[in-house]
Amino acid sequence: MIQNSNASSRRILTFPAVHPCQSIAPATLLASLIALCRSACDYKSKSFGSNVRNARETIRQVGNLLLLLHEIRLSFSPIPDSLLLGLSELHLTVQKVIYLLDDCTRGDGARMWMLMESDRVANHFLVLVREMATALEVLPLEVLDLPCEAVEVAELAVRQARQTKFEVASGDQAAMAEVLTILRRFEGGGDVPDRGEIKRVLDYIGVKKWSDCYREVKFLDSEIEFHYSNKEMKRELDALSSLLGLMNYARCVLFDSVYGKSNQPVDGEGESRNHELLRSLDGDSFRCPISLEIMRDPVIIETGHTYDRCSILKWFRAGNATCPNTGKKLSSTELIPNVALKQLIQQYCLANGIPVADSSRKIRDITRTAAAGSLAAESAMKAAASFLAGKLLGGDCKGRNKSAYEIRLLSKTSIFNRSCLVEAGVIPSLLELLSSEDDGTSQENAIAALLNLSKHSRSKALIVENGGLRSIVDILKKGVKVEARQHAAATVFYLASIEEYRKLIGETTEAISDLVEMVKEANYRGKKNALVAIYGLLMHPGNHWRVLASGAVPLLLDVLISSDRDEVVTDSLAVLATLAEKSEGAQAIIRCGALPQVVRILASTNPRATMEHCVCLLLALSINGGEDVVAYLVRSPSLMGSLYSQLSEGTSRASKKAGALIRVLHEFYERTSSTSKATVLPREQFVHAW
Ligand SMILES: *[C@@H]1O[C@H](CO)[C@@H](O)[C@H](O)[C@H]1NC(C)=O
Ligand SMILES: *[C@@H]1O[C@H](CO)[C@@H](O)[C@H](O)[C@H]1NC(C)=O
Ligand SMILES: *[C@@H]1O[C@H](CO)[C@@H](O)[C@H](O)[C@H]1NC(C)=O
Ligand SMILES: *[C@@H]1O[C@H](CO)[C@@H](O)[C@H](O)[C@H]1NC(C)=O
Repeated sequence: MIQNSNASSRRILTFPAVHPCQSIAPATLLASLIALCRSACDYKSKSFGSNVRNARETIRQVGNLLLLLHEIRLSFSPIPDSLLLGLSELHLTVQKVIYLLDDCTRGDGARMWMLMESDRVANHFLVLVREMATALEVLPLEVLDLPCEAVEVAELAVRQARQTKFEVASGDQAAMAEVLTILRRFEGGGDVPDRGEIKRVLDYIGVKKWSDCYREVKFLDSEIEFHYSNKEMKRELDALSSLLGLMNYARCVLFDSVYGKSNQPVDGEGESRNHELLRSLDGDSFRCPISLEIMRDPVIIETGHTYDRCSILKWFRAGNATCPNTGKKLSSTELIPNVALKQLIQQYCLANGIPVADSSRKIRDITRTAAAGSLAAESAMKAAASFLAGKLLGGDCKGRNKSAYEIRLLSKTSIFNRSCLVEAGVIPSLLELLSSEDDGTSQENAIAALLNLSKHSRSKALIVENGGLRSIVDILKKGVKVEARQHAAATVFYLASIEEYRKLIGETTEAISDLVEMVKEANYRGKKNALVAIYGLLMHPGNHWRVLASGAVPLLLDVLISSDRDEVVTDSLAVLATLAEKSEGAQAIIRCGALPQVVRILASTNPRATMEHCVCLLLALSINGGEDVVAYLVRSPSLMGSLYSQLSEGTSRASKKAGALIRVLHEFYERTSSTSKATVLPREQFVHAW
């Protein structure tokens, strides 16, 4: 069903046409073929980036075929069986023609790639049209006593299909040559190519706006991803990377402003097909049959049914090795990601304003993003970086804002891109842009850019050396847009990966109290980012009292009680467990009455990470919180069972800690239940018991 109808998941220049089934009635086949020919002819009005003449010629030939098919339909009733073979072949070929025409007119950014593949494309047209001729010759028209005009039409169609030449047009040739010249200029490393030159080529293929360029980059990126993960030829990767470098550069340099609304000027025409599909589906198709929630990570199990990954894992972990829908026993609990459905769900959520779960970020191959894919890509990126750095320094407000936005896009994943930008000197200018006083978009773009650059080690130092800590901490509270404040918290998290900076941030006035304040916010992202930042800062022991003094403990407990999102519960527990490692922290947690809550969480089904932090927290509390804690835990009926199941099923850390806690509880139990009034053991004894 849904999976198969996702037409846009077909890879470019592949032709997965299907044979009509053998038992089909000739009349049905003919009607279907006529419909196919009509849709092929509809491409006449579309805009082609390259191979225009070959496409038009092919469409004309399909038009001839259409005439003949009409004749056949008029002349025979019923349609004779002897036509089946030829019609089937034609049906197959016209499907492929449509795929090819579709690739030539795709709205999703394939224009540059299609131009550079012109030879291959022209050859595809040639092969398909010749296939049509062959199929036509198989039709036994002579024997069938067709009116003579029809026979003439048929002969004409065959003759033309046999004879037409398909060559790369001179305009396409020239444009390709120009692209190659531009890339060679980048490779040469001397002067950057002339803007006018680049613009001419882009105009030629119809890439005229920032958003067109954005789509080209996105398309090339996904092609590279594909080739990379499929270990295809290095040559293709080189070519794709060079084109990507060129398009990235063009996007930064040629366009003054970002077209489209808000920060996501995306929304390609390529997506419209899916939107149509989406309209016919309601949200229920996207719900997990177990949790009844919209699925975040749909997976298929052995029986072919789809569930959300975390629900089905819970089901399996509870000892149910069956398919929840059918009750069938499973021989394997292997899960296969339902990629197509996942894409649909994401689009559905976007279209309906439902927040998309981002828990499944694509994990890229790090080594791939550490280097540019080719020499030309490398110098194109360097040229783009220095252009952007210049704009940040000397541009007007709009120019600086746009540069920050481009930097944000360029720094998303690629380590190589980040280091180019950092070396071009963008950090001080971005820090300055944080205090810009427009509607908050410049500030947001700047902090988002800094966030992703701060994953690069050199940039952390540059941020600190340029006094950036103060400016970033200020955004935590005073950021104009809520997104800016979230990015600021995440940036603090990255900076806190270095011990020296953890200390510096702790000493920056209000840094910690503002983060703690953010935990209060209803907003999920902000809560999450603030929690991980606090967690990072706690790695510096000197920050413990600051976190306690800011009143974090009751807030964290609140998160445990009221949040229905696993992730923030886990993060809160992690912070609490760290705080409990010191006696003041443990006391504060106990005073707030956290124990029953933590025991309850441990008794219900939760992700393994959550359980691990629970066990760590309880162990730390029983060590640093005094005998009363242990006494309480010994009396909790569900606890022993939970601890034993962590021993066998928990993470290795959870299992170790659960073992230690069980020992503490046993010792306490034996001591207090022995009839003789035992002397209380010194606490250290069980502190070091493990
Ligand atoms: C396991 O299956 C039983 C019934 O077959 C069901 O009641 C129970 O809720 C399932 N466990 C989980 C964790 O889904
Ligand atoms: C640089 O960033 C762009 C934009 O995100 C990306 O498409 C490209 O893959 C990156 N470059 C490299 C060399 O990875
Ligand atoms: C800054 O750029 C964004 C695009 O990211 C745009 O939406 C916004 O309007 C721009 N703001 C200003 C003040 O130019
Ligand atoms: C930063 O990069 C990540 C990927 O590493 C990306 O998902 C995220 O959107 C980027 N952040 C911003 C604020 O652009």
